[in-house]
Amino acid sequence: MLTIGVLASGTGTNLQAIIDACGSGDINARVGVVVSDNEDAYALERARQHDIDARFCSACDKRQHEEMIQQTFEEHDVGLAVGAGYMRILSPRFVRQWYGRLINIHPALLPSFKGTDGQGDALRYGVKLSGCTTHFMDERADHGPIILQAAVRVHDDDSRDDLARRILRVEHQLLPRSIDLFEQNRLNIEGRRVHIKPGDSWMDRALPDVLYADGF
Ligand code: GRF
Repeated sequence: MLTIGVLASGTGTNLQAIIDACGSGDINARVGVVVSDNEDAYALERARQHDIDARFCSACDKRQHEEMIQQTFEEHDVGLAVGAGYMRILSPRFVRQWYGRLINIHPALLPSFKGTDGQGDALRYGVKLSGCTTHFMDERADHGPIILQAAVRVHDDDSRDDLARRILRVEHQLLPRSIDLFEQNRLNIEGRRVHIKPGDSWMDRALPDVLYADGF
């Protein structure tokens, strides 16, 4: 069975969505370990609540931090690494080592609004649609080949948190589905594009007023 290694820095609601999807059988995989650069991350508490190995790896020294991640992932025989609200930039060396087995979620429609506040940047820009993106990480931040995207409306009276909440609900669908497609071996990276082989669909759980990319 595929073992997932999750990198998380914050509250871990994306991690929880992955744990729940593994538990329900939506994904034929298990979360083997959660690694955080933030010892207070609630994501670590969520891991502990589910008897998942929870590791704090200080990020003071980037090379040491990534060596600890690598060692931990090898210890758990991790087959897919997932950035689930992980706020560090991974080194090109680490990304090259994991390219094609390292997935990230970003709370905006890449390539727009990269960086640490995709929701706020989109709102301040005045966009009418925003959303979220899953992609394979490559050596540039928020740049790798896109797996899935979904778009949500931005309302005139939205606060940043209103928009972030609306996007987060969709993140909790898109990241587990991206992992599921990886586990089914249905993702083919062809240059900048990710071809998704035909197969089952999760559209039966589509949320109202959300536009999902093919493959969801
Ligand atoms: C999510 O919007 C994620 O995309 C961003 O941080 C937010 C919280 O994620 N990086 P989580 O609740 O820690 O999974």
